[in-house]
Amino acid sequence: MSNIDQDNPVTNPTATRHFNDIVAAVVSRRGFMKRGLGLGAVGFMGGSLAACGGGDDDDEIIPGPAPEPTPQPPKVMLGFGQIPASTGDTIVVPAGYSHQVFCAWGDPLFPQSPSWRTDASDDGAAQALQFGDNHDGMHFFPLDENNSTEGLLVMNHEYLNDEYFYTPDIKPGVVGSWTLDNVRKGQHAHGISVAHVKLDNGQWKVVIPSRYNRRLHLNSAMVLTGPVAGHRLVQTSADPAGTSVLGTVNNCGNGYTPWGTYLTCEENFNGYFGTTSGSDQRDAVQRRYGVSAQRSGYKWEDFDSRFDYVKEPNESNRFGWIVEIDPFDPSSAPKKRTALGRFKHENAATTFADDKRVVVYMGDDQANDYVYKFISDNKYDAATPGLNRNLLESGTLYVARFGDGPVKGDMMGAGEWIPLVLSTRTTNGGTLGDLFADMGELLVKTRLAADAVGATPMDRPEWVNVHPETREPYLTLTNNSGRREGSTDDANPRANNVYGQIIRWREENGDPASLAFTWDLFVLAGNPVIGTGLNKGSDNVTPDNMFNSPDGLAFDNDGRLWIQTDGSFANTGAYEGMGNNQMLVADPQTREIRRFLVGPSGCEITGITWTPDQKFVFVNVQHPGEYGSHPRKPAVEPGVDPLAFSQWPTREGGRPRSATVVVWKNDGGVVGT
Ligand code: FEO
Ligand code: CA
Ligand code: CA
Repeated sequence: MSNIDQDNPVTNPTATRHFNDIVAAVVSRRGFMKRGLGLGAVGFMGGSLAACGGGDDDDEIIPGPAPEPTPQPPKVMLGFGQIPASTGDTIVVPAGYSHQVFCAWGDPLFPQSPSWRTDASDDGAAQALQFGDNHDGMHFFPLDENNSTEGLLVMNHEYLNDEYFYTPDIKPGVVGSWTLDNVRKGQHAHGISVAHVKLDNGQWKVVIPSRYNRRLHLNSAMVLTGPVAGHRLVQTSADPAGTSVLGTVNNCGNGYTPWGTYLTCEENFNGYFGTTSGSDQRDAVQRRYGVSAQRSGYKWEDFDSRFDYVKEPNESNRFGWIVEIDPFDPSSAPKKRTALGRFKHENAATTFADDKRVVVYMGDDQANDYVYKFISDNKYDAATPGLNRNLLESGTLYVARFGDGPVKGDMMGAGEWIPLVLSTRTTNGGTLGDLFADMGELLVKTRLAADAVGATPMDRPEWVNVHPETREPYLTLTNNSGRREGSTDDANPRANNVYGQIIRWREENGDPASLAFTWDLFVLAGNPVIGTGLNKGSDNVTPDNMFNSPDGLAFDNDGRLWIQTDGSFANTGAYEGMGNNQMLVADPQTREIRRFLVGPSGCEITGITWTPDQKFVFVNVQHPGEYGSHPRKPAVEPGVDPLAFSQWPTREGGRPRSATVVVWKNDGGVVGT
C-alpha cells in the first residue's frame, strides 16, 4: 500500500474530539445493556462506569432487594508491560513471559509421516501426512472438561507460498516442471490439522500416535447440508447429486460451537479456479466472486479439471462456505453448512440469543463487502446433544446496514439486519424472489442478494467475536485503500484507509437475535506521530502502541480483547514506528490497548486460543519470510537463498515455516494479567 496522499487531506474534525463524544455516548447507552443483561453485566461494568459519569439507569438494574455483595478482588485486565515495536526476525513477548514453537509446516502427525525435508522436496503423499502450511484460525478443545494440559489443537491451513513450498526448479504452470504430484502436494497443504497435544515436562508436544490426529485437505470427503444440498447449481460431473464435495480450501479464520465442533471458514476460494480454454467465459456470479478470468494463480486447472471453471462450471459454487467438523470423531464427514451463506468467509462467532437460538456472526473479507449474521431456526438444549448437532442446518441469514445515526461524522450510529429471504424488498422496488428462484440459488449467490437489499459496503470485514459478558460483537475492518472521498460513512470514515478500524455494536435489548442495533468505533488505527486528521487514529492509539490492519480478534474468558495484525510491516512512511505484525490486548471498558507480542520478518499473526485455565495462549505465525514489496527485500530470490529474509523459526530448518507459538507467564498466572 502507498503512503498517505498529502495532497488529498481529510477535512473532518479531529479524531480526538469524535472519540470523546463517542465515549460519553457509549457510557450513556450502557444503561440499556445493563437492563438487558442483569447482574452479571453489572459486575463486569463495575465501578469505573460510575466514575465516568454513567449510571443513569443504575437503579433499574437491581429488580429486588439488593443481595449482600461478595467482595471480589478487582480483575487485572492489562497486567503486563507493553513491549516496543520490533523489526527483528524473532518472537518478542513481555518481560515475565516465555514462548515455545511447535506444529510447524511439515511436522509429522502420524507414525508413518515422513520427516519434513528442509529443501522442500517432500511429495504430495508426504504432505498429506504432515502439518499443512500457512496456519490460521485455531481452537483448543480440552480432552476432558477443563483439562488445561491435554487437548485437541485444531487449526486451519490457509494457503501456500510457491517460493518456499516447492524446490526452486518447480514453477507452477510451466510445462516441463509442473506435475500432477506438485498439484496434489499443494492441495494437501491446505485444509485442517487436528493435533492431539499435551503439556509434558513444561513443553507442549504432539501426541503420536493418537486416534484423534487427522488431516483434512482438498481431497477429503465432505458433505453439503442445508438449503443448497442437491441444488442444480452444485451438481457436477463427479457428483451429479450435488451433495458430496471433495475438500475445503483457503481455510482462514475459524469458529467453534457450544456443542464441541470446529468451524472452518473458506475465504479466497476464487483464487483456485481458472481455465485453460484461453478465453474469459465467466458468468456474472463468477465475476462477482472474483474467479480468475483465465489462468489461476495456483494453476491446479492444468491437471485437476474440476478447477477449470469452463470444464466444471459448478465446482466453484461448492466452496465459499462454513464447514463444521467434529474433532473428537476422526471418522466423521465434515459438513458444509450452506444456510450460513456463501462468500469469502473470514471467521464465525457463535453466541446464543435470549431464547437459546444460535446466532453466528460472520464477515466477508473483501473491500466494500458485508457483515452477516445467521440465526438458527431451532434452539440449543443441553439435554439433547444429538439435536444440537444440526442447529446450523436451517435458519435465516441477515446482512447488516450500518446507518450514520442522528449525527453525521461522529463515528457512531444505528443499524439494522436485513433478512436474505425471497420476500425481502430490494432497493429497486422488487423482491429477492424476483432475482432468485429459490433459497438454494439465493445462498449460492449470497453476495448478489446482499447487493440488492442495500447492505453497507465495509472496509474489509475480517474477524468478529462476541464479548463473553456484554455479548457485544467487535469486528475488525482491516483497511480499504480503495475507498474514495465521497463514499465514506461513519462506520468507514476514511478515504484511502490504510490503517483499519474496529467496530462494535450492541443489539437492541442486548439480545443477539434483535434486528436493530447501535454501534460505534472502538478504535480507529492510525499513526499519531506522522498522521494528520483522522490518520492520527483515535485517542487510544499512541506512539507506543500503534499498529495497522487489525485482522484476528478474540476475547478471552475475562473479557480481554486480543487483536492481531496482518498489514504492512514496512516500518517506513505511513507505517513508520509500527514494526512487524503483532498482537495487542485491549481493555474493552477503558479502551486502553497494549502491544503483547511481535512476530518475525514477513509474517502475519493470526489464530488464537487458550487452555481453559488461560495459563497458555496459542497463536499462529503465518508465512514468515513473505516479503512482497518490502523496502528491505533481499536481492536474491528464495530459490537462491530461502533464508535471506527470514530464518524463523530456525536457520537449521532450511527455510522459514509457518508454525504455532504457545506463550505462558513464567509465574504460572493467567496470560495478560
Ligand atoms: Fe484470510 Fe481475510 O484473512
Ligand atoms: Ca453518526
Ligand atoms: Ca485474516
